[in-house]
Amino acid sequence: MKNRINELLVEVNKMVANNAEELEALRIKYLSKKGLVSELFNDFRNVANEEKREVGQLLNDLKNSTQNRINDLKETFSNQKPEASKSDLTRSADPVKLGTRHPLSLTKNEIVDIFSRIGFTIAEGPEIEDDWHVFGALNFPPEHPARDMQDTFFIEQNPDVVLRTHTSSVQSRIMANTKPPIRMIFPGRVYRNEAISYRAHCFFHQVEGLYIDKNVSFADLKQALMYFAKEMFGEDTEIRLRPSYFPFTEPSAEMDISCHICGGKGCPFCKHTGWVEILGCGMVDPNVLENCGIDSKVYSGYAFGMGVERITNLKYQVKDLRMFSENDLRFLGQFEAAY
Ligand code: DAH
Repeated sequence: MKNRINELLVEVNKMVANNAEELEALRIKYLSKKGLVSELFNDFRNVANEEKREVGQLLNDLKNSTQNRINDLKETFSNQKPEASKSDLTRSADPVKLGTRHPLSLTKNEIVDIFSRIGFTIAEGPEIEDDWHVFGALNFPPEHPARDMQDTFFIEQNPDVVLRTHTSSVQSRIMANTKPPIRMIFPGRVYRNEAISYRAHCFFHQVEGLYIDKNVSFADLKQALMYFAKEMFGEDTEIRLRPSYFPFTEPSAEMDISCHICGGKGCPFCKHTGWVEILGCGMVDPNVLENCGIDSKVYSGYAFGMGVERITNLKYQVKDLRMFSENDLRFLGQFEAAY
């Protein structure tokens, strides 16, 4: 009898049921009137008197264990909602379609990333500026014809408050409050009073670069720009510097890169020259250093400025500048990239 009780106890503790029917079958098998446990109770009267106490105790334990086990199994079923039991909770979630970044942000982020790899840090300045930071400090004397190079928006008829026409204005701010060495880039939006067309807009974006230290030379400028061009447009890209004029740099240059569409052979995109212009640059004019409180006998530096729209056009061949500000999702949705 005791052996049988122990056997059943082991069996009962191993009981499993996958659904309510299986559980009911187990209940019937062990606890119904003719069930295995009940049968043992029937046999109890045959147990010798001196054993009755011990065996009775064991039988009760078996009955309780069986009932508890059945209750536990039942609980696992009732906690599961029918729908939930059909779901596979280990499945990965449905992929959510992420939005895309604006192409100008992609380009700006890439430019910033490339220059940060050679030690440039970032700063930003205000879009509403005073005349001094946009022009005066940068060696544009009052009435100087070079001011006509950039059609300026003035704020409230006050000739001293302007929307910045270039991010070179951040140069003047940084130089005035930072001790060299300075190695920084300044991304931002700029404004010019131009009629809007497929090739011009009244606002656009630039990234300005500035490096001021002892013994900075034109060779350093060229090296940094060559690194940038190759990182941005590919290892085969060549650069060419043409003499130019900007009030704030001397000497000044404009930089072309070999046309990456035709590989420099000549195509409509590069107007059959094999080259496309991408930025202006030069050695910071000593007057600019002095205007901003930097000793031009001790320090020298270079600066460069590029249009983000221009670089984006070259990279993605966007023909019409206006697309960048129209927010047409059919256009914007095409740009998926790492930046
Ligand atoms: N600020 C110039 C522009 O908007 C671009 C530029 C040219 C910036 C030469 C520079 C530079 O720093 O050295 O057209």
